[in-house]
Amino acid sequence: MDYGLKNRLSRIIKPEDNRTVMLAIDHGYFMGPTSGLEDVKGAITPLLPYADSLMLTRGILRNQIDARIDIPIVLRVSGGTSILKDDLSDEDITVSMEDAIRLNASAVALSIFVGSKNEKQGIINLAKLVDEGNRYGIPVLAVTAVGREMARDARYLSLSSRIAAETGASIVKTYYCDDFEKVISTCPVPVVVAGGKKTGEKEALELAYNAVKCGAAGVDMGRNIFQSERPVNMIKAVRAVVHEGLAPEEAYNAVYNVDTP
Ligand code: R5P
Repeated sequence: MDYGLKNRLSRIIKPEDNRTVMLAIDHGYFMGPTSGLEDVKGAITPLLPYADSLMLTRGILRNQIDARIDIPIVLRVSGGTSILKDDLSDEDITVSMEDAIRLNASAVALSIFVGSKNEKQGIINLAKLVDEGNRYGIPVLAVTAVGREMARDARYLSLSSRIAAETGASIVKTYYCDDFEKVISTCPVPVVVAGGKKTGEKEALELAYNAVKCGAAGVDMGRNIFQSERPVNMIKAVRAVVHEGLAPEEAYNAVYNVDTP
């Protein structure tokens, strides 16, 4: 693997344990002012010391994140549709590789929608992005986005994760599901799981625990952290599960039974 690509990847997935806690705050690119992210700077600044990387759009990066903070950036570079549309799969590449480099991105991220009417467009965009990324040593994270009508089961998620890896993605982000070992064992690149809609803290920790137990490299979690009543506690608990291997209950007790601002 090329030095630059490998070096950037190691900023995201920590070589000490091959695990990562990515903080996802890119929801606004199709959801607008997402609950918990109305004031991005206020909400996210206290979380940054506990995140291994930050996944977001260039607009939020430029306007809301202090450039002097040293945190690896995973830049969302796909979009073009909003939650007002029934079909979210009509995405294209929205950021040039030149701008990603200008922003010192450690990786770029794009969604593919396998099984949707725009399946081909997403996969071809991923292929183009991988070619561009390879030119400059920038890894690509592919999000196996799931349309409303698609099942989040091991059969579908292993199909879309494998297609993402075969197309050249360096990291695949997908959803946790039953038989998740199947998704992991058939995907040749590191897999991180999205948290999905806000659930209870213990449930989200359970998801992270089960995902890494099955072989995931970690999480790329958003709403279950920034919509939590105590987001700093939550990200600390997620770290304890992902990096220290604590069981969900232990991680919860370790951080929620101490006072954190
Ligand atoms: C959705 O497409 C975005 O990429 C989010 O980053 C992703 O869903 C992860 O965030 P959450 O944990 O809130 O699902």
